[in-house]
Amino acid sequence: MDATLTARAAGDLAKDAGSKSAAIEHVGRLPEHIAIIMDGNGRWAEERGMSRTRGHRAGLDALRRCITRADERKIRYLTIFAFSSENWSRPKSEIDDLFKLLNTFIRRDLKKLHRNGVRVRMIGNRENLEQDILRQITEAEELTKDNDGMVLVVAFNYGARSEIIGVVRGLVASAARGEVSESEITESLISDRLDTEGIPDPDLLIRTSGEKRLSNFLLWQCAYTEFVFTESYWPDFDSQMLDEAITEYGQRDRRYGGIVQSVGT
Ligand code: FPP
Repeated sequence: MDATLTARAAGDLAKDAGSKSAAIEHVGRLPEHIAIIMDGNGRWAEERGMSRTRGHRAGLDALRRCITRADERKIRYLTIFAFSSENWSRPKSEIDDLFKLLNTFIRRDLKKLHRNGVRVRMIGNRENLEQDILRQITEAEELTKDNDGMVLVVAFNYGARSEIIGVVRGLVASAARGEVSESEITESLISDRLDTEGIPDPDLLIRTSGEKRLSNFLLWQCAYTEFVFTESYWPDFDSQMLDEAITEYGQRDRRYGGIVQSVGT
């Protein structure tokens, strides 16, 4: 093969090498999967002399706007970081507020999402969640499981390292039972055992509020993801900002470790 690769060919190459996650088909340079770290609710509220709770509530409104626009833009997968496994270190009152917001979101928005054909999926550790919230999560997934519209992936009580530890433990157990051999451990096998099984890796990750880090979010899945960081706090994030991030994504060269072949070479 020629030393130069088109970005697409590089994706195909990765696929051949067993990494289905790196090879994503793009239609008109739209991201198929957008992941968002919705950051800055607290600072937004503090700057307005409001409680952090008010900031999170305003964040929920921003999330609704964002879901609507992502759906209009025919984004296939939207993943949002709603509660991280590290958020347990926050004051109990704030944790309670975030759980209440998930509850509100499911109670108030689920029917509309379902009507619009959205499929809801939750990723994260379910083990230390209370029965009530677990039941709501399961019902939301069950109700929408046959929908064929946008997939809304809610990362709740999610931490990427703990997700990866779960995969490693599972593989060790499978190996001990003789169900998997060393040579069968490939990128695609690991991808298939992550919480995001069946979901292509994010093409675009957006983080608001000026912070520029991944914070234990989708560490495996973001190997080839394009990042867009915005200065605005999450409650101020609007449809136009989502459009701008999508446009910026469309202008990026995705090379997957190869090089982009220029016209005529
Ligand atoms: C980060 O802002 C945001 C969160 C920890 C929670 C995100 C939650 C929402 C947008 C609300 C609704 C969503 C659901 C479905 C529960 P921060 O509090 O860390 O802000 P700061 O860095 O300014 O303090």
